Amino acid sequence: MKIITHALELKEFTKNINKTVGFVPTMGALHEGHISLIKRAKKENEIVIVSIFLNPTQFLKGEDLDKYPKKDEADKKICELANVDVLFFPHAKDMYSDDEATVLAPKVRGYILEGATRPAHFNGVLTVVMKLLNIVSPTNAYFGKKDAQQLALISLIVKQFFMSVTIVAVDTMREKDGLAMSSRNVYLSQEERKEALKISASLYLAGKMVSKNILDAQEIIKNMRATLAPLEISYVEIVNRDFEKVWHVEIGNTIILVEAKVGTTRLLDNIWL
Ligand code: PAF
Repeated sequence: MKIITHALELKEFTKNINKTVGFVPTMGALHEGHISLIKRAKKENEIVIVSIFLNPTQFLKGEDLDKYPKKDEADKKICELANVDVLFFPHAKDMYSDDEATVLAPKVRGYILEGATRPAHFNGVLTVVMKLLNIVSPTNAYFGKKDAQQLALISLIVKQFFMSVTIVAVDTMREKDGLAMSSRNVYLSQEERKEALKISASLYLAGKMVSKNILDAQEIIKNMRATLAPLEISYVEIVNRDFEKVWHVEIGNTIILVEAKVGTTRLLDNIWL
C-alpha cells in the first residue's frame, strides 16, 4: 500500500493511472462501516484510494474535534488488510491556507435537520469533499447512507457543479444489537450504549408500521418519539430522497431520520424505505 501525504503528489499519481479509481474519504477511526465502503470500492474499481483527514472546518466551536478518536496506526493496518492501493494522509496545512475559498451548502437543504443543529457544518463537509474529489479525480466515490443528509448534499453539488464522479451510496453497517456503527460510539458508557439502542429500535418500529401500511408521517413520528423517550431528541423527520419533508411515506422514495443525544454524544441513524 502506497502512503501519500501531499495533495499534489496524489494528483500527479492519479493523473498518470489509466484505470478506474474508487475513492473512500474518511476521518479515520475506521470501523466495519468504513471497511464495507472499501470492499464495495474494491469490487467496482481497479484502484482504491482511501483518505484519512480529520477535517477541522466541519466541526463547530465547542464540538468534539479535539477528542475525536485518532487511531492512525490501526487505520493503516485496516487499509493494508483491505488491500487499499493508496492511503492519502494529508496534513491540515496541505489542505487549507489562511485565506480560503469555501463551498456554501444550499440555503434550505444545508440548514435543516443536521444543518439546523450544526449550522455551517455542511459548508466544511462540502468544501473538503470538493477538494478531495479534485485531488483524487475518482471514477466512483463511496459514502455511507448513515450520513444521509451529507450524502444527499454531496450528490447535489456533484450534479450542480457538473462534476464527473459517480457517488455511490452504501448501506449502514450495524452492531448485532442494531446500533448503527459510528466512530463516535466509543464515547458511550456501557449504560449509554444500552440507551442508544432506542434509536435503532425507533427506526425498526417505523419500518414495522410502514409494513402494516401505516404511512402517515405524523403518526409514525409520534410513535418513534415515544420509543426514544427519555432521550433528548434533536429531530425525528421523514423526507424524500431529495430531502424534502413529506406527509406520507412513499415506498422507494423515503428516508426516516433520527438524531438524539445519548449522554453528551449526538447519534444519527436512519432507514431508507
Ligand atoms: O463522513 C465523513 O467521515 C466526513 O464527513 C467526510 C465525508 C470524510 C468529510 O470530511
